[in-house]
Amino acid sequence: MNAERSHPFSLAIDGPAACGKSAAGRAVARRLGVRFLDTGTMYRAIAWASILHRINPTDTAALTELAESADIRLAAHADGDRLMLDGTDITDNLRLSEVDGIVSQVSAVSGVRRALVAQQRAIACRGAIVMSGRDIGTVVLPNASVKVFLTASAEVRAARRHAEMRQEQEASDYKQVLDGLRRRDRIDSKRDDSPLRQADDAVMICSDDITLEEVVIKILGLAQQC
Ligand code: CDP
Repeated sequence: MNAERSHPFSLAIDGPAACGKSAAGRAVARRLGVRFLDTGTMYRAIAWASILHRINPTDTAALTELAESADIRLAAHADGDRLMLDGTDITDNLRLSEVDGIVSQVSAVSGVRRALVAQQRAIACRGAIVMSGRDIGTVVLPNASVKVFLTASAEVRAARRHAEMRQEQEASDYKQVLDGLRRRDRIDSKRDDSPLRQADDAVMICSDDITLEEVVIKILGLAQQC
């Protein structure tokens, strides 16, 4: 890592749903001794808030206003980061199936993206960071020091998410998980504003046949080269 650069070091990890971006990003950040931001939690927070405020996912004006006024704070804790929305800890609600069901529709709204991207850039300006999402290398941090596009087949991703949910004692059906991921990927890749895509200068890593630790080592290797 070059400490002389004018912008703080930033490492972007983008990729489709459940490809392991946040697990890999968190581990890489820990080993580099820098902060980690999973931007997906911010979009999930707005999706959760829209449920609380009974906002229809098609009401783009109300969603934009919600994202512009939401006070999102991320607090690091020994047992995982907590997300505070307007002073309330909503971490445990972010992965509810109701949120999974609407988050891609909510995050396709340009006003929502504008509000959250501004916050993400401000966070990156404050110091070295690893950031995961869909548009980090293409839109949020186009000058990121390192860009990774992490992927895996839909079946492998669904099997991993299904196993994760069962480990957390959550009810899970593999086929439903697979359909849900495919649906979100379709909306995320086809939206007009900042669709999910690999940045031209991103390095693709496919995790179908490698472990999380191997993914982390590959990313650390890229960080060392810059
Ligand atoms: O963890 P998982 O891969 O399932 O999803 P996530 O990273 O928590 O993101 C949830 C949703 O937020 C995605 O399906 C996208 O619709 C949206 N998102 C986005 O549009 N842009 C980002 N930078 C991050 C997430």
